[in-house]
Parts: sequence; structure tokens; C-alpha cells
Amino acid sequence: MRIVSVGGGPGGLYFAILMKRAHPECAITVHERNRADDTFGFGVVFSDETLGGFAQADPESFAQITKHFAYWGDIETYVGDTCIQSTGHGFCGLSRMKLLQIFHERCRQLGVELRFGSEIKTLADVAAGGGATGGPPDLILAADGLNSALRTELEPHFRPTIEWGRARFCWLGARRQLGAFTFVFKESRHGLFQLHAYPYETGMSTFIVECDESTWRAAGLDQATESDTVAFCSDLFAEHLQGAELVTNRSVWRSFPTVRNERWHHKNLVLIGDAAHTAHFSIGSGTKLAMEDAIALAAAFERHAKRGAAGGGAGSGGAPKWDVPAVLADYQESRYVDCLKIQKAARVSQDWFENSSRYLKQHPLQFTFNLLTRSKKITWENLRQRDPALVDRVDRWFAEQAAVHAAPPGAPLHPAYGNRKAQGWDEKPAAAAAAPTSSAAPTVAASANPVGERSIEDIPDADKAAPALVAPPPLFAPLRLRELRLANRVVVSPMCQYSAAGGVPGDWHLVHLGARAVGGAGLVLCEMTDVTPDGRITLGCTGLWNEAQQIAWARIVDFVHANSGAAIGIQLAHAGRKGSCALPWEGGEPLRDGRAWVTLAPSAEPFAPGWPAPRAMDRADMDAVREAFVAAARRADRAGFDLIELHMAHGYLLSSFISPMSNHRTDEYGGALAHRLRFPLEVFEAVREAWPAAKPMSVRISATDWLDDEGGLTAADSVQVARALRERGLDVIDVSSAGNTPRSKPIYGRMYQVPFADRIRHEVGGGLAVMSVGAIQGPDHVNTILAAGRADLCALARPHLVDPHVVLGASAAYEYIAQPWPKQYLPAKPKPK
Ligand SMILES: Cc1cc2nc3c(=O)[nH]c(=O)nc-3n(C[C@H](O)[C@H](O)[C@H](O)COP(=O)(O)OP(=O)(O)OC[C@H]3O[C@@H](n4cnc5c(N)ncnc54)[C@H](O)[C@@H]3O)c2cc1C
Ligand SMILES: Cc1cc2nc3c(=O)[nH]c(=O)nc-3n(C[C@H](O)[C@H](O)[C@H](O)COP(=O)(O)O)c2cc1C
Repeated sequence: MRIVSVGGGPGGLYFAILMKRAHPECAITVHERNRADDTFGFGVVFSDETLGGFAQADPESFAQITKHFAYWGDIETYVGDTCIQSTGHGFCGLSRMKLLQIFHERCRQLGVELRFGSEIKTLADVAAGGGATGGPPDLILAADGLNSALRTELEPHFRPTIEWGRARFCWLGARRQLGAFTFVFKESRHGLFQLHAYPYETGMSTFIVECDESTWRAAGLDQATESDTVAFCSDLFAEHLQGAELVTNRSVWRSFPTVRNERWHHKNLVLIGDAAHTAHFSIGSGTKLAMEDAIALAAAFERHAKRGAAGGGAGSGGAPKWDVPAVLADYQESRYVDCLKIQKAARVSQDWFENSSRYLKQHPLQFTFNLLTRSKKITWENLRQRDPALVDRVDRWFAEQAAVHAAPPGAPLHPAYGNRKAQGWDEKPAAAAAAPTSSAAPTVAASANPVGERSIEDIPDADKAAPALVAPPPLFAPLRLRELRLANRVVVSPMCQYSAAGGVPGDWHLVHLGARAVGGAGLVLCEMTDVTPDGRITLGCTGLWNEAQQIAWARIVDFVHANSGAAIGIQLAHAGRKGSCALPWEGGEPLRDGRAWVTLAPSAEPFAPGWPAPRAMDRADMDAVREAFVAAARRADRAGFDLIELHMAHGYLLSSFISPMSNHRTDEYGGALAHRLRFPLEVFEAVREAWPAAKPMSVRISATDWLDDEGGLTAADSVQVARALRERGLDVIDVSSAGNTPRSKPIYGRMYQVPFADRIRHEVGGGLAVMSVGAIQGPDHVNTILAAGRADLCALARPHLVDPHVVLGASAAYEYIAQPWPKQYLPAKPKPK
């Protein structure tokens, strides 16, 4: 087989090596437009986890690569005047030049033909055989990087998209070998600059400087030559350079393009590496991705070679005869989802850096935890494995804050935890608390660690000499909302059970809600409970419009108060145009028989094609609905509920007023966001007025319609919504998404709605507590979200269906013995050691 690679970067060269190694009979030519020693960039960095696959794929090049590695295990975060050091990570790096030289050498050993200074401008240059030895190629690799000319030429087949990052960055080198992965957040008179820097060989570090567009322009960097850039950055980061020189290599300021392609292959041509996909440099994965593509492509050829052999498909001399298009399809199939996941993590990381100024107000410990856990690849538990001392400091800081905030006015400082020793906080000497326990502890530092060159850990810490308390995980921190004190941060998310008769909750509800309260959650939110009969989704939904319902709810509330430490809240709602449906287990479709009723909505438009049209509400309808909410709130108080949540999410009545996808009114309740919000705010104000001042209120919103391109409600709009509610006395905003139209396109994934909560938390402030919900899969996620300051409360729905005892389980797993357990369950409670 004849193979041509257009591009001699890591992707093209590594595939050539792997293929030639496995099939010496292949004639492989690599065309590289640069000279052999002419390369852009400085160092590439890999994490420990990355390396296993390379050792297996080609031990010879792997041995050379590792011989040239600089290793380090620490991450240092400089923010303001503080540096927080995190240990226990494992990184290695080398210069891009060295990596390419190793690959060149290995190619030569194996007999791959390298043609330097050979630019392939169009497919025609290679397809006819001009680029290969001995005839037209059987396989063409478009390994020509980010701006791939071959991809552009065949655009209709690959269907690429390029999403440009908002920040500007410049890739420089520093003649100083840093001892750690170094992040610096430096505020200047022009705005915030951030530095991503890491060592890669003796005496050298990669030095990437990044800022937002306006800062870049304000600093005049849009006009800067390379030497202007060097002068500016040398001055800005003088304390980190310590007199060392900055060096350039095509160091222009750029925006990061995230490249995606729907297809990676066409006939016998395949995209690999940056030509196929890019991932933001802040997760350092581009070279790894290109090399893993090479491994996956070589593996696809192997799979097909074996199939060919089994089916008698070998060519002359026993060499496999491949069906190249089929191999390429197999390659994409095997690789595509993994790449999408990495791109998704990279996108989250990129967003974090693009919005990092939002977090500068955080305490440096929380800021660092937030930074380290930004892409969701590292969670609280992962980090605790790597760096238990840091996580303990974060937890301690978190617990202190929580204790202060949870304390009623005039109460002693730590009422939440009482006497911490008596409550069971483990007490360990500081040294023991700080000792890393991870077996994947850091590898050797590359050089004398420059950590000693300046002072770190300068956060005031009165306890330093005293025995350190190993703090409880953040999940167990109390939270005070008006006069209500939640014992911890886990909330049972409201979940319709569709099991009421005439809106009256029954034994099912008692057992369902009672079990979850006993399971230890700080707050149990009862299901969407409707304020009028025609405000129900189904005939099985609960209500709170009459005495019988109030009495039935009171029975549940009393049980929860008598048998658990949980607070109990009720979600009051009106289903609007999503009402009048069958039970989910009977299909969930709109009722079409005599049981159906006419639904209400801001506009007379059905929720989905084929659904009955609702009636557009007039002022009298609005008054009636508002008064029904007020009456239900009064009943909720009489039933003993601790909190009310108003349902303004998921496309139900109040939500449908807020979203431009469902509200097309032309009066003062439609149009601009402020107008669409009018009726929901009226309801909120009236309920707030009726609900006792000592009791808190929550509102659940759909923070986005996931249809930004079509004019849907956006995350930015929801910041306005939260502000308007906060100004009217809201205590908690419960941040969900979607539901106003079946056309919404949520991007699901672990903790996928957290970014909306995070944004509201940082942009609204004013003491508004933020609850996050959605694929928060358990205590580790809860601890991660809380410790990073992305939310104040975490609501878990489906995890509570699997296990009502999420919090008791966490108490057992983390040996947090201060968690109260029901006396009946004490035999299972962890014992003090
Ligand atoms: C600021 C920054 C920091 C980064 N940091 C890291 C990091 O720490 N770790 C990491 O793994 N990755 C990092 N990367 C990404 C990494 O550099 C790339 O993802 C990786 O090099 C991709 O390999 P590739 O072989 O696909 O493409 P490239 O390395 O871009 O190679 C493509 C090659 O094709 C050649 N070429 C292009 N067109 C033609 C043509 N028409 N004819 C002939 N030759 C052609 C080019 O000269 C080039 O040598 C970083 C990137 C940036 C921008
Ligand atoms: C069975 C079930 C019923 C639900 N009912 C409600 C509800 O009454 N009110 C509401 O706001 N959300 C409701 N939801 C949504 C959940 O509260 C939650 O927002 C969603 O399931 C995402 O969280 P999870 O990933 O933890 O399940 C329901 C979810 C489920 C699974």
C-alpha cells in the first residue's frame, strides 16, 4: 500500500511510524512544508494518564520521548498577592522540536520517506501520484493541522465548523525552567491577563499569555510587533521571569479556533489531528489527540487486516489488501465520541478562562479549587486523592464560612457544628493531614524547585501550628435562609409522582417523601403541586386548593419534622399549556376525551404540533391565577411547610410567560424581557406578601431555552430574571433549563446545568442562594460544585429515586459522624475511630 501524509506534525509522523512498524511493506511518504529544524511553538505537555497508550504503540519512540521529559507534579496558582500550591499531579513535557526530531529519527529507522520543504497545495498534487513513490496513493492523510488546506478543499464532504474563542492569546517561550505548572492571574490597568506556563526542557518554559479582547486592545497589543509583545509581557510578569528572557517564534496574538468536522474521511482521504478537531490549549491535549488519532487509525487498519486475512483478503506476498474507505469509517466510529468528550471538556475549560475575572472575588483557596476542577475531569474526590492537604484546607475554609453564615444573629460562632470535637470532626496533627496518600504521587521535579524562591501559602491561617481539624466535606455544611436552617446542602429535587386522587397526596407520597427525608437531605422539595384543578399536568398531580389537600400535606410535613432533620418545602405551580395530559405511564399525551380541559397560556399557541391550543390569558385570568397562588401559599403555611418554591421553569405557566418562545403577547405582558416577567413577578410579590417573613422562598427557573440562535431565552437573560426576583425578596434561585418548546436542544452531560447557576451566583450576588440541579450524580459532584463556589445548594432528583439515603450514604462513605442518623438506623452509622 502507498500512503502519503500531507503534514509532518505529531499526527502525520506518528501514524507513519505505527503503520510502517506494523507493515514494513507499505511505502509511506510524509510531506512537510517546513524544514526539518524549522518548527513553531515551544513545549508540549502531557499528563501521566496520557502516556500508557504511547508506550504500547511504539516502545522505541516512547523510550526516547521519556528520556527527554521534564517532569513535575505541582500546580501553582498566583492570584492577587497569593500563591496556592497544589501537589500530587503528574505532568511531563518536552519541546515540540525534540518530539518532532524523535519522530523524524524513528521514521528514518523504519524507512518512512520524509520530504521537507514540500508543500502540498491541493489534492491534485498528491492524488495522481505526484506525492508518492511508485504511483497514486491508496491512502492520503490530511495531517496538515488547524488550517488544513485539504479539509478546506473538500469542505462539503467534511462539513467543518470553526468556533472562535473570545480571548486573545500569544504563545511565547521563557528562558527559565519553572518548577510547576504555573497559572498567574494578573490585573493590570488595562484589564486581567492570565498566564499559562510550564517547563519543557532544561532552562526553558512555555509561556502562554491570554486576555480578553478589550484588555488586548486597551494595552495596544492589537498593534504590537513581536518585540513589543515581549517588552510588555516581560514587564507584566517580571516577578515570574526573574530576569529571564522571553523568546518568540511566530508569536502573534490569536483567538483559539475549535475545529469540528461532521465527517473525518472521504474516499481514501482521512483527517487526523488538528485538521479534524482542536481542543483548547488549557487542557493541553492537542498533541495527545493527534497521536491518539494515529493510534486509532493504525488500530483500524489492524482490525481490517485481520478480517481480510480471515476472509482470504490478503494481497500478494501475504500483505493485507484493505478496503480503505471501510477502514476510515471504522476509524471515525472508534474515535469520534472520545474526541467530542475531550472537546467538550476543553470548551468548558476555555469558557472558564474566558470568564475568570468573574471569580477573582473568590477567596484564593476557593479560586484555586475552582480552577483545578473547571473542566469536570478533576472532582473533589480526585483532587483529594492527589492533594488531600489542599482539599482539607478548602473544606475547612468552606466550613468556617458556612458556620458563620448559618449562625443566627448573636449566636456563638459555630452553632452549626457546636463543639467540633464533640461532633466528631477528626483531629489529626497538621503533618498527618497534609501527607499525600495517593499512590499516583508526583513524579520527580525537573529541576531545583523554584517554589523556594518566593513565599507561598500566605493565606492567613491561625491554625497552622495547632492540630489541624479535618473538616467535613462541603456537602455537610449548613445553610441559613431567613429563619430556616438547612442541616446540609443536599436537596431532594421536586418530582411529580402522578399518584394523587383529586389532588390529595396519599400514602405513596408519605412514604416517598418520608423516606427521602429520613435519608438525610437538608431539604425535601415536594413535587409540583398545582394551585387550581386546571393547573395540573395530569389528573394524578397533587394540588393545594382545598382543605383536604392541606390536611393531607400537613400529615407528611409532620412526619418529616418528627422523624428527620430535613426541612420540607413545596413547589407551587400552574401547568399552563402543558396541562390536561394523560399519566406518563399511560402515554403522557394530551387528553382527548371528556376528561380534557382547556389550558391557559400567555398566547393561544399549543406547546407542540398537534396539541390542543390553550386560551390566551386575559387580565381576569391573571388575577385569578395570582390569587390561587396566594391561597395555596397560605395553605402551605398552615400545613407547616418551611419553604415555598414557585415553579417558573420547564414551560409551565409562569415559565411560558418568561420565554420568548412561548410568549408572543403584544400587550404589556409580552415583548421585552421586562414585560414578559411582569406577570411572574406579580405572582411572586403577592405570594411573598402572604408567606411569613421568617420563611424563605425559592423560584425554579429555566435558565435557557437552549435556542440562542433562534432568539430563545438565554443565560444572560436569566441573570436579569434572578436580579428582578432578588430585588423582590427571593432567597433561593433553583436553576434548571429548557421545557418551553420541544425544539430546545440541551447539551446533556454531568452537571450540565451548573454553568447557568454559577453565572447567576457570581453576577447577581446580594445574598441570593443558588441551587443547581441536573445530572449531579452524587456526593462527589455536590462537594465539587459547592467547594468551587458554583452553587450553594444541589438538588438531586433521579439519584434520590435510586437511593433515598444519599446523605446517609455520604456520611458512611466519608465517616462523617456528626451527621444525625435516625435512631432506628444507628447500627449502620459509622463509629468514631
Ligand atoms: C498555544 C498553544 C499551546 C499548545 N499547547 C499544547 C500542549 O501543551 N500540549 C499539546 O499536546 N498540544 C498543545 N498544543 C496543540 C498542538 O500544538 C497541536 O494540537 C498538535 O501539534 C496537532 O498536531 P497535528 O499533527 O495535527 O498538527 P500540526 O502540529 O499543526 O502539524 C501540521 C503540520 O503540517 C504542515 N503542513 C500544513 N499544511 C501543509 C501543506 N499544505 N503541505 C505540507 N505540509 C503542511 C505544518 O507545517 C505542520 O508541521 C498547543 C497549541 C497551541 C496553539
Ligand atoms: C420523576 C420525575 C419527576 C419530576 N417532577 C418535577 C417536578 O415536579 N418539578 C420540577 O421542577 N421538576 C421535576 N422534575 C425534574 C427534576 O426535579 C430535576 O430537575 C431533573 O430530573 C434533573 O435532575 P436529576 O438529573 O438529578 O434527575 C422531575 C424529574 C423526574 C425524574
